[in-house]
Amino acid sequence: MTIAIGADGAGIERAAALLREGKLVAFGTETVYGLGADATNGSAVAAVFAAKGRPHFNPLICHFPDADAAFRHVLADARAECLAASLWPGPLTLVLPRRAKGGISLLAGAGLDTLAVRVPAHAAALALLRAAGVPVAAPSANRSGAVSPTSAEHVLADLSGRIEAVLDSGPSAVGLESTVLDLSGPQPFLLRPGGTPAAAIEALIGPVGRGISPEQAQSSRLLRSPGLLVSHYAPSLRVRLNASEVSSDEALLAFGQPLRGAGLVWNLSESQNVTEAAARLFAGLRWLDQEGVRLGMVRIAAMKVPAGGLGDAINDRLLHAAAPR
Ligand code: TXA
Ligand code: MG
Repeated sequence: MTIAIGADGAGIERAAALLREGKLVAFGTETVYGLGADATNGSAVAAVFAAKGRPHFNPLICHFPDADAAFRHVLADARAECLAASLWPGPLTLVLPRRAKGGISLLAGAGLDTLAVRVPAHAAALALLRAAGVPVAAPSANRSGAVSPTSAEHVLADLSGRIEAVLDSGPSAVGLESTVLDLSGPQPFLLRPGGTPAAAIEALIGPVGRGISPEQAQSSRLLRSPGLLVSHYAPSLRVRLNASEVSSDEALLAFGQPLRGAGLVWNLSESQNVTEAAARLFAGLRWLDQEGVRLGMVRIAAMKVPAGGLGDAINDRLLHAAAPR
C-alpha cells in the first residue's frame, strides 16, 4: 500500500525519514512530481528503476535544497555558477562533470562521468530536501515511457503499491519537466527543452546548441542523454499533431477555439496562453486518454501550439507523445 502524506511540517518530517531509511517517496515539485530516493543509497536507487520499469542506462537527476549542496557533487564552472545564481531555485537541470568522491551512487548517474543536478522552486520540495539531508535522486514519478504526473492522484494511478508514499503538495504549477542543459563540454547544449526557456539561459551565458529532431536524437543525442528516447510521454491512444480538423473517432487537445465537430475536448488554454497550456498538458493527455479509450476513440488530435518559450517544451513533449512506438 502506498500512503498519501499531507505536505505540512509533520508530513515533511515523516517523508524525509522514509527517504533516509531507503524508501521511495514521490513528492511534488514546480515542474512535475518526482519519485525520490536517497541518491547515496545504491539499493534505494535501484528500487527507483524497478518501480518505474526504467532502463538502467537512463540516468537520474539529483535534487538539492541549494546550489552549494549541489555543487559539492559536481564541478561547477563560471557558466554553472552564473545560471545557478539567476535561475535556481527553478525548472533548470545542469549536467556537469561529477566529483570523484561525491558519494552519489554510480547507478543514479547510470555510470556516466557527468551528473544532472537541480534545485526545485517549490517550498514543500525544498523543505523535504533540507529535512532529508541527503541528495535525492528523482525521475518523474510515472511508469517509464508514460505521461509525467502533475498531481498526487496521477502518481498513485501509475505507482500505487510500488512505492512507499507520496507527499501531496497539490498540482504542479509549471506542469512540464525542467530544461536539461549539458555544461560538461565547451559548448552548452540543450538536451531537453523545459520549464526554463532557452532564451533565459542564452541571456546569461550566450548561445546554446540545440535543435536535433527526435529521429536524429535516436542516433546522436540519445548517446548524450539516454533518457531522450523517441517514444516518451506517451498516452495509450495515438497522437496526431497539428490537427486542423477533427474526426468523430478522435479526442481533441485544443489550444484556443476548439475545432468544429469535436466531441471530447481538453482545452490547454482558451486564451492561447502557453504558460497555462504547459500547466495543463500532462493532465489533459491523461484525461483524454482515459475518456477517449472509454468512449471507443482511436486517437488524440492535437492542435498546433506556437513555437518559442514554453511553446518549445510543449511541442517537444507532443512530438515524443506522437512518435512511433
Ligand atoms: O522537472 C524535472 O526535471 C523532473 C522533476 C521531478 O525534477 N524530473 C525529471 O526526471 O524529469 P526524468 O528522469 O524523468 O528526466 C531526466 C532527464 C532524462 O532525459 C535523463 O536522460 C536526463 O535528464 N539526464 C539525467 N542525467 C543525465 C546526465 N548525466 N547526462 C545527460 N542527461 C541526463
Ligand atoms: Mg520522465
